[in-house]
Amino acid sequence: MPMTSLVEPAPAKLNLALHVTGRRADGYHLLDSLVCFASVGDELHLSPGPLSLSIDGPFGEGLAPDDDNLCLRAARLSGAEAAIRLTKNLPVASGIGGGSADAAAVLRGLLRMGYELPPDLQRLGADVPVCLASASARMQGIGEHVTPLPALPVLHLVLANPAVALSTPQVFAMMEQRENPPLPKIPDFGTAGELIRWLRGTRNDLEEPARRLAPVIGEVLAALDATGAGFARMSGSGATCFGIFDSVGRAAESAGILARQGWWAVATELAQPLVPG
Ligand code: C5P
Repeated sequence: MPMTSLVEPAPAKLNLALHVTGRRADGYHLLDSLVCFASVGDELHLSPGPLSLSIDGPFGEGLAPDDDNLCLRAARLSGAEAAIRLTKNLPVASGIGGGSADAAAVLRGLLRMGYELPPDLQRLGADVPVCLASASARMQGIGEHVTPLPALPVLHLVLANPAVALSTPQVFAMMEQRENPPLPKIPDFGTAGELIRWLRGTRNDLEEPARRLAPVIGEVLAALDATGAGFARMSGSGATCFGIFDSVGRAAESAGILARQGWWAVATELAQPLVPG
């Protein structure tokens, strides 16, 4: 076991497409989603010691280091002793992985410290299994079926959040149509343009109910379009939206304009996949 602390990134998860295909008897929804990861994210520091959690970073105040925190629950499920520090760089309750990405980063760190992965990771959070490798994947079931995909083309992205926290169960509850078709066949995308053409034949089924709860999401999507996005959509249960741009420069310019509206906005690229363990 290393005596020094180790650092694990927790990249932002994006649902490029998210179809809600049904509902299980226990109320959880069946999903079919194309997921990728951006190189912005939270950061987890782990060091040997009694189990503890501290939280800092620009969005740290929105989160309590209490027993319900997914980082602590992940460590407890692993039977681990570790001092955990979470630097929260991403807005909380915002549809880009959040707690699931942080818990997956804790699990990757604990693997490096010699602990084993606990079973039934999706019980911690539906997005934990896909966040473990943080690589582009098709996610099905309630998140437990993860099929890795070939690397996506280079994407110049903007992530933007209008500072509205949305509750995932509330967004699911607002959904009128709960049985939609699965994703069309996912090809090997050669270019960002091919990916965008494919995305136009897909949806995020949570976007419409989220927009009813937080109409400002429509303003964010319009602003991404108006600043040159070739494609813009909400991720997960929102309210974070992403735009895909032609170049690094145009993405940076859009992020600057959106940030001047008082929104959280960053220009970013796809993350390199992480290797658990
Ligand atoms: O697992 P996670 O914490 O992301 O889910 C929060 C809530 O969102 C669940 O308790 C459930 O109400 C809803 N949810 C769902 N179907 C999913 C994922 C989440 O209904 N596949």
